[in-house]
Amino acid sequence: MAGTRTFSILKPDATQRNLTGAINKVIEEGGLRIVAQRRIQMTQGQAERFYGVHAERPFFGELVEFMTSGPVVVQVLEGENAVARYRDIMGATNPAEAAEGTIRQLFAQSIGENSAHGSDSDENAALEIAQFFSEADIVG
Ligand code: CMP
Repeated sequence: MAGTRTFSILKPDATQRNLTGAINKVIEEGGLRIVAQRRIQMTQGQAERFYGVHAERPFFGELVEFMTSGPVVVQVLEGENAVARYRDIMGATNPAEAAEGTIRQLFAQSIGENSAHGSDSDENAALEIAQFFSEADIVG
């Protein structure tokens, strides 16, 4: 494998505005390879499981509702230090704090509708990838 992997979701605000290609360009120019990708409509159960760690947060209901409000693109990204690199490419969770040229600075609309998700650790990346992809789906 060339480097390590992270899991990415292009969120409904991005797919709704036809930004899949524009965001993928930023990902690829940032040095990551898209080694698996699928456009899906997340179910409520999938979203609740995926964001289970945030279940007690006040925004959990809003988050699940948003993530099921339209199509998302789930992805596996591969490269050197993929988790940290993708977090750099995405920028801060809050677009108002995101650095110039990052996905969230360029495209996000708010802290909730922030265009992209990326794993926060190698361990979570493996768990998140396994929720949506089998090894046979991932071609590096
Ligand atoms: P993500 O990386 O997908 O992981 C959890 C998400 O919760 C996060 O991105 C934000 O989009 C969302 N989130 C965090 N804080 C808030 C908030 N205060 N209100 C709504 N959504 C939030």
